[in-house]
Amino acid sequence: MKKAILASLAALVISAPSTAATAFTDAEDAVKYRQAAFQLIRHNMGDINQMIKGEVTYDASRVQKRADALVLVTTLPWEAFQVAGTEQGGGDAKADIWNNLDDFLERGEKLAADASTLQAAAQTGDKNEVRQAFGNFARNCKACHDNYKN
Ligand code: HEC
Repeated sequence: MKKAILASLAALVISAPSTAATAFTDAEDAVKYRQAAFQLIRHNMGDINQMIKGEVTYDASRVQKRADALVLVTTLPWEAFQVAGTEQGGGDAKADIWNNLDDFLERGEKLAADASTLQAAAQTGDKNEVRQAFGNFARNCKACHDNYKN
């Protein structure tokens, strides 16, 4: 019995497709991926923004849910700027990104780090802490767009 399971496992491993080096078929696919990721960032951020401004009722657990999502989605776009051929442009990305890739990727890491700080603030349930962390988080967007987005 055990042998049979092992044998079928081995067959599975052998017939499994080889691991692709990237999740993207081509540079155009990478542009779609990163734009989709930025849209997720925008939606989750916008909801927190409206709650802080009082445009919709402040709901601490909803803020937490959005902040949790932001921790993940802010890690997503950057890989898609490093796909072969993507430095040829596409989307609204400026060519300067690939002349300053270290700076660009550091800004991406900072965004994700500030999302984690926002998440920690959201976990306290303290609206003032959330407001402050959100302000720091939000500053990253324009700063990067001014340099690297058309
Ligand atoms: C490190 C740089 C960087 C940071 C930080 C950054 N962005 Fe962007 N963003 C870009 C670039 C570059 C593009 C253009 C991507 C493309 O079209 O290929 C973009 C595009 C977008 C788009 C358009 C997506 C589409 O559908 O075309 C939205 C929305 C967006 N960003 C929102 C945000 C928000 C909100 C934040 C902050 C929470 C943020 N971005 C932070 C670099 C950044």
